[in-house]
Amino acid sequence: MNRLAIVSAMESELRGLRDSLPQAQLVRRAGRDFWVGELGGHEVVLVRSLIGKVAAATTTAVLLEHFNVQVLLFTGVAGGLGQGVRIGDIVVADQLLQHDMDASPIFPRFEVPLYGTDRFGADAVLSRRLGSACEGVLAAIEAGTCAELSRAQLQACGVAQAPRVHHGLVLSGDRFVSTTAEAQALQADHPEALAVEMEGAALAQVCHDFGVPCAVMRTISDRADDTAHVDFNRFIDDVASRYTHAVVCAMLGAGG
Ligand code: ADE
Repeated sequence: MNRLAIVSAMESELRGLRDSLPQAQLVRRAGRDFWVGELGGHEVVLVRSLIGKVAAATTTAVLLEHFNVQVLLFTGVAGGLGQGVRIGDIVVADQLLQHDMDASPIFPRFEVPLYGTDRFGADAVLSRRLGSACEGVLAAIEAGTCAELSRAQLQACGVAQAPRVHHGLVLSGDRFVSTTAEAQALQADHPEALAVEMEGAALAQVCHDFGVPCAVMRTISDRADDTAHVDFNRFIDDVASRYTHAVVCAMLGAGG
């Protein structure tokens, strides 16, 4: 694989991977720390984008202009919207849409003005590969052979069922969705949406502009409703960052 950027909104979401790159070089740009190193014989750049669409867009543009990355992967947590998308599941985006974009009545609601579309695609080949790596990691957890995470650890974080991988539409917006009313409104506007987060569609739009493939993987941390996860940070440390580490190592053949 060509030089791969791995991007998360928060430092903790990348912790396991950062620990796997002890020799990485730190380059600072635009207030971000870019860690340039090697994983499983592949060149990688790890960076925390910060939270929200503008922060993600800035980070993506810097990666593409200054770090010569040819593939981007965004990984982190999201609120589940789709039926059957439960806490502990993984959503791999096939398309991404900004749910707070609204230049109506000049343009249709949600359409990104002058692009003629309301959604940007993730790369199909990369997303399939990502999905297979996710399936492999979840199967290993069930079989008790995953080095990062056990079934018991998942249960301790409130994941009762065997987690699943879903592929579909992911919504992004500059809002943490934490009321049932808002989650229902998003579901009504976008019945096919599986998850909501705050960065993916921005990264996908910038990747579209540069003609560079991207993929987005989200671990479901909450249901974007009135019960939205209180112990968000613990969930990232104990579940999401471990999924990320195991999945990226599986994709790159890095042995964990
Ligand atoms: N990331 C994780 N959960 C989220 C939510 N409920 N809304 C937006 N971003 C999220």
